[in-house]
Amino acid sequence: MSNQPCKQHYESLLALLNRWDHAYYVLDNPEVSDAEYDAVWQEVCALEAQHPAWVTPTSPTQRVGGKAIDSFQKIEHRLKMLSLANAFSLSETCQFFARAAQELDQISATLELVSEPKLDGLAISIAYQNGVLAYAVTRGDGEVGEDVTHNIKTIKSVPLRLLTSTPPEIIEVRGEVFMPKAAFAMLNAQAEDTATRRFVNPRNAAAGTIRQMDPSIAATRALQFIPYGLGAYQGTKVFTKHSDIIAYLTTLGFKANPYSQTLLASLEALTDNYHFMAEVRDSLPMEIDGIVYKIDDLAQQITLGFNARTPKWAVARKFPAQLQHTRLDAVDFQVGRTGVITPVARLTPVFVAGVTVSSASLHNMDEIERLGVCLGDEVEIQRAGDVIPKIVRVVKHGQSRQLICMPTHCPVCNAVIERSAGQAAYRCSGGLRCAAQAVEHIIHYASRKCMNINHLGSKLVETLHAQGVLSTIADIYSLSVNDIAELEGYGEKSAQNVIAAINASKATRLATFISALGIPEIGEESAKTLAHYFKNLTALRQASAEDILQVPDIGPIMARHCVAFFANANNQTIIQLILNAGVHWVDEATEHSVEKILAGQTWVITGTLSRPRNDVKMVLESLGAKVAGSVSKKTHCVLAGEDAGSKLAKAHELAVSIIDDATFMHEFDAFFNSAVKK
Ligand code: IVH
Repeated sequence: MSNQPCKQHYESLLALLNRWDHAYYVLDNPEVSDAEYDAVWQEVCALEAQHPAWVTPTSPTQRVGGKAIDSFQKIEHRLKMLSLANAFSLSETCQFFARAAQELDQISATLELVSEPKLDGLAISIAYQNGVLAYAVTRGDGEVGEDVTHNIKTIKSVPLRLLTSTPPEIIEVRGEVFMPKAAFAMLNAQAEDTATRRFVNPRNAAAGTIRQMDPSIAATRALQFIPYGLGAYQGTKVFTKHSDIIAYLTTLGFKANPYSQTLLASLEALTDNYHFMAEVRDSLPMEIDGIVYKIDDLAQQITLGFNARTPKWAVARKFPAQLQHTRLDAVDFQVGRTGVITPVARLTPVFVAGVTVSSASLHNMDEIERLGVCLGDEVEIQRAGDVIPKIVRVVKHGQSRQLICMPTHCPVCNAVIERSAGQAAYRCSGGLRCAAQAVEHIIHYASRKCMNINHLGSKLVETLHAQGVLSTIADIYSLSVNDIAELEGYGEKSAQNVIAAINASKATRLATFISALGIPEIGEESAKTLAHYFKNLTALRQASAEDILQVPDIGPIMARHCVAFFANANNQTIIQLILNAGVHWVDEATEHSVEKILAGQTWVITGTLSRPRNDVKMVLESLGAKVAGSVSKKTHCVLAGEDAGSKLAKAHELAVSIIDDATFMHEFDAFFNSAVKK
């Protein structure tokens, strides 16, 4: 009891610090001197040391609270996080809104829009429960992202507790985390001093920071967060306009996007707005790569709805690619995973559209000929958003020009470089004996678009290859925790994470596996076509070039590469080892022959299941169900495993059918045998 007045005092100090932080970091309008701030900060720290029980996660001292994490947990978004359609010209922007207006039975010049700078960072969803920051997640694939709460809490413009006495029960605040230009310049200047790695642009620096395990790094990087919308919302406010939502978010303590405006979707208004934004762009404290136009009226947004990944009520008008002149100093020849040799231009470093560019792909020797470029020439380079910079033309011949020639031997393994008749590409003839090809092949196999083996990135593959424990893709499955734990920068726990990720990736799809094999000329799309046509791996392995030529969209070069790949004894052994290690998928034949008894239904999986979640998802999908990340009135059934939490509660609340793990596994057992097989 005697503590009470003292605790009240402590809480009033916290409120003061929060108010000052808000004034400084959100409103850019400091209320007190650094000395006054520090005095209160010290007093708070002293009180917290005396009364550890008082400290809550929303104390400003807890921004860099916990210890470093050892892996990123996956979190499902309550509502899917979408991306935006792009428009590269005024006419594309006008067309976008003309279509929307037509669907709304309205004239586009009367459609009310909001324009917002398109901040160049990364999308984050921050969830607050009863006003307290609960967790923050990256966009990921839009349905499931990674928990980066530890780093987001270090951002001073993110309130740990919303500035309201009547917070909503749940609110997901969606927005962009970015690194202001000044913070980026400082970081790279430090990198220069300490000879550490420089970041190419503020977006990469922000993304690299958010992916750190240790929050004390993010705390030094001056990231910022600006919201641009809502995800899930369970509260009492009724919003009718997007601009009302943004205004509400600023009252909760978030920063406002500078130069956001309302305008009509008329040609004149869109033209003026674009010119205005292009003019203020350089004076803004952060990088922007375009303007986002959104229909303001939420009822109209609902009427228009969404495409697969983008809303029909918003579009990103991108700024054009930027051009710069620089000198072509040298050309390196890089060896890709299929042995293709790519000439890469080494340029005198030059700053283009927020990035220092020092190299550009030249694609192949034909491109070099087409450009007529020689070493020493002054060239024009172009960069648009995250597109790899390219050389557009020669501006001026250099004084001592030197022809660019393809080497006769591979720069990595010294095997002869060959060119197949009628093809632009030169290839190293060393095959997987060439270290460059072997490493690139494994990196490709493990990559997100292929087997999606988390934690097995290019650095680790290179190291394990150099150690001699990872020579082929099949060796991935005989890696042990010890192989990895002994490497510098790794420990027991992170090694276990890699092995767990390898095991988790074993449930895949046939098309993904074909594409992961890295057959020359067979990319993601052609792998899908082949999987769809041949239905299973055995049929594809036995197919002749003539058989493969029957497949729509597969040409003779692809057919020849396929046959040669599967005829190779070494490849046959590797595939067998991979299958023996437990890699499995749903055969296309099974997928199409099973009666789609769940067609049209949406299921949600929650909690811990007695079979791998990926297998369960495959079974449901093979029966025609869609597996969604969040429960809504449209959900047909929730499959609830052990420790199911908020989704199960939501299912009860909305009276959605629920099936428990044991019942589901019993009733659907037969489908597991047919749908999930090697
Ligand atoms: S709205 C459903 N507004 O751009 C609409 N996005 O290219 C979702 N971005 O993933 C996005 N500034 O990370 C929106 N003012 C803004 C934005 C913005 C930057 C990013 C965001 C999104 C990406 C799409």
